[in-house]
Amino acid sequence: MRQPTVRMTNVRVRYGRSEALKGISLDVHGHEILAIIGPAQSGKTTVLKTINRTIDDVRGAVVTGSVEVDGEDVRRVKDVFALRRKIGMVAPLPVGLPLSIFDNVAFAPRMAGLRKRAEVEERVERCLRQAALWDEVKDRLDSLGTRLSGGQQQRLTIARALSHDPEILCLDEFSIAVDPVTTMRIEDVLKELRHRMTIILVTNLVQQARRLADRTAFLLNGELVEVNTTAAIFSDAAADRRTCDYVNGIFG
Ligand SMILES: Nc1ncnc2c1ncn2[C@@H]1O[C@H](COP(=O)(O)OP(=O)(O)O)[C@@H](O)[C@H]1O
Ligand SMILES: [Mg+2]
Repeated sequence: MRQPTVRMTNVRVRYGRSEALKGISLDVHGHEILAIIGPAQSGKTTVLKTINRTIDDVRGAVVTGSVEVDGEDVRRVKDVFALRRKIGMVAPLPVGLPLSIFDNVAFAPRMAGLRKRAEVEERVERCLRQAALWDEVKDRLDSLGTRLSGGQQQRLTIARALSHDPEILCLDEFSIAVDPVTTMRIEDVLKELRHRMTIILVTNLVQQARRLADRTAFLLNGELVEVNTTAAIFSDAAADRRTCDYVNGIFG
């Protein structure tokens, strides 16, 4: 069997005294959509932060256990920027740079050394198309990204996350600030992207996991209660009572 794209083994994270992850072991396979569901504060965002090592930026955070990306322990990685280029990250609220639509998407590729105008243009167009935004913005690429609607800005954020050709795309509750129509459009985008990359979808919407994910992991209070095929998680056969209760909306 091929090695997993991400392998977390007994990962614990403490923020000062409180333990946010209590020994998580979880594999993410290549080209799957893995959903991570669970109530607020269960540790979902912390999982993503250990993968791209933005946890390093949190003062007082202590990580033990191991996180491997493509078989390499992320803590041994010397070039953390190279690691982060492998991993596209989409935050809950769109965080556009105060730049034009074009420059928002061109920023990372230029930083990585892409210089030829035609190549940059090609990259920008491809990423905007993949994020299902191209048709709406192609005639105003020079206007400010921050002028777009909330739903468009979230798609611009996705285009930016794609602009450095990531192998893994992580989305953290992307639909929190967008309307249902945009949410469905972005879900369609993810269905297309799954053929090209591995997707980790942290979501507060259990039905979104059900619609999109190949497998679903349920986190509760920093513990991984269960990970299984999405069909199993949403059937009466879920191994843990708490999983059934959560996906049926009994708590959380
Ligand atoms: N920077 C931080 N400093 C201290 N505690 C934090 C920090 N970030 C998260 N936590 C705590 O860690 C736990 C898990 O948080 P988080 O990973 O954000 O959960 P989720 O994304 O599921 O809501 C929570 O109890 C939260 O309060
Ligand atoms: Mg979170």
